[in-house]
Amino acid sequence: MTARVAIFDTTLRDGEQSPGCSMNPAEKLRLARQIEKLGVDVIEAGFPIASPAEAEAVRAVAEEVRGVRIAALARAKEQDILCAGRALKPAAHAVIHTFLATSDLHLKYKLKIGRDEALKQAVEGVRLARSLAPEVEFSAEDASRTDYAYLLEVLLAVHEAGARVLNVPDTVGYSLPAEYGAMVEKLVRDIPTAVISVHCHNDLGLAVANSVAAVMAGARQVECTVNGIGERAGNTSLEEIVMALKVRREALGAETNVRTELLAPSSAALSQVTGVWPQPNKAIVGRNAFAHEAGIHQHGILANPLTYEIMTPASVGVGETLLVLGKHSGKHAVQSRLKALGVNIANEKLDEVTKRVKELADRQKFVYDDDLLAFCDQEVERRAHLVRYQVISGMGVMPTATVEVELDDQRLTASAIGNGPLDAALKATDAALGISLELLDLHTRAVASGKDAVAEVTVRVRHGDQETVGMAASTDSIEASLKAYLSAIGAARRAQVVAA
Ligand code: KIV
Ligand code: ZN
Repeated sequence: MTARVAIFDTTLRDGEQSPGCSMNPAEKLRLARQIEKLGVDVIEAGFPIASPAEAEAVRAVAEEVRGVRIAALARAKEQDILCAGRALKPAAHAVIHTFLATSDLHLKYKLKIGRDEALKQAVEGVRLARSLAPEVEFSAEDASRTDYAYLLEVLLAVHEAGARVLNVPDTVGYSLPAEYGAMVEKLVRDIPTAVISVHCHNDLGLAVANSVAAVMAGARQVECTVNGIGERAGNTSLEEIVMALKVRREALGAETNVRTELLAPSSAALSQVTGVWPQPNKAIVGRNAFAHEAGIHQHGILANPLTYEIMTPASVGVGETLLVLGKHSGKHAVQSRLKALGVNIANEKLDEVTKRVKELADRQKFVYDDDLLAFCDQEVERRAHLVRYQVISGMGVMPTATVEVELDDQRLTASAIGNGPLDAALKATDAALGISLELLDLHTRAVASGKDAVAEVTVRVRHGDQETVGMAASTDSIEASLKAYLSAIGAARRAQVVAA
């Protein structure tokens, strides 16, 4: 039998505690809507006592996001719990999540109270919370470093006082999977009427492994964040734990309610709000998670994706497998990239283009759409090509861009203002072409380091229900972005899904 594991998303609370990831109420609301669509069970919207804006954000999420349980964090203190209760008032399904540290280390040095007093405070906190909300979760902060007998005593008492969900954080990311799993197994045995929840930090890179061990031991709620953001090294990554449970469902015997095809769009939505993108090799949502450069891998993938992929890109919402053309790439990869760009060429021409790709890759490492399309000049129709652009930007200046594009045999020019130089340049391109596409993702990475680093840009756009991807590189990141954008537009035109 497959057990159902609840996903408690804390992107807007613990995730937001990550440096550079703070969000205003409007941003939180936008993300909460996306996370609700993702199919999580609980959204922890914030820590209302932290600031008036934080309380307002929790209230706004509680008011607007009604198809999922909304939690708010509160220390086991009267003023925190009352504040959380007020912020959650409009919620359709409110959860007050109250916490208190239980390890001797935290009690002695941080809270400066003894075990008995902490037990009393935790129980009083849960009782008050229960009088204000239909559901209460209690977290024993630093549970993984708490003496088991005392942890059990506290958890039994708060469960009796009304906490349905008992969360046992590995607050400092210290646990090993076997230890953490063993603790959860004992708790599941000793408090069978409670839902045992886990919350892991990633200081040793073990947050997902610890969460998996906990699920195997009987935990029925996992707390996690989109892209794994959170305090210090972050929290359990939502996309990783969800896909581990899905891909290894038979081994783990557990499943979630998450619509996995919304994982990549949710990751991108978070990065767009925070400006922080996951590292390229991040599992599931990193830009290289489905990219293959080695020729042998590329050939295998094209013959049968199962050779090198344990899940399809589509299953996590990634549009297509990205084959990066480099010196290891063979004919199949070149043909596949050309096909994605909407270009079909004869076999003899393909041999010649592949040879030129390898020669160029020897000199400049990777080969991008512009070069590839140039190698097949005669065969490429409906191409959108950057002729020139100019951007005026600076402090106290409104960013303005003028872009000239060659479309088939026509030169088209337009200007636009934007939120920044890149935004202005993309808007000017849209105006020149007379189109407006949904930009799903624009990702820049430095291919080399130093002042003359080359920016490699990947752009993903959507038109109707079709997506296309363009890639380009330049020492000028705006030029690379425009070329990648035009490449994606060219592919869409050849696929006849956009009229420009
Ligand atoms: O890491 C932790 O212990 C927490 C609790 C407040 C749940 O974030
Ligand atoms: Zn935490």
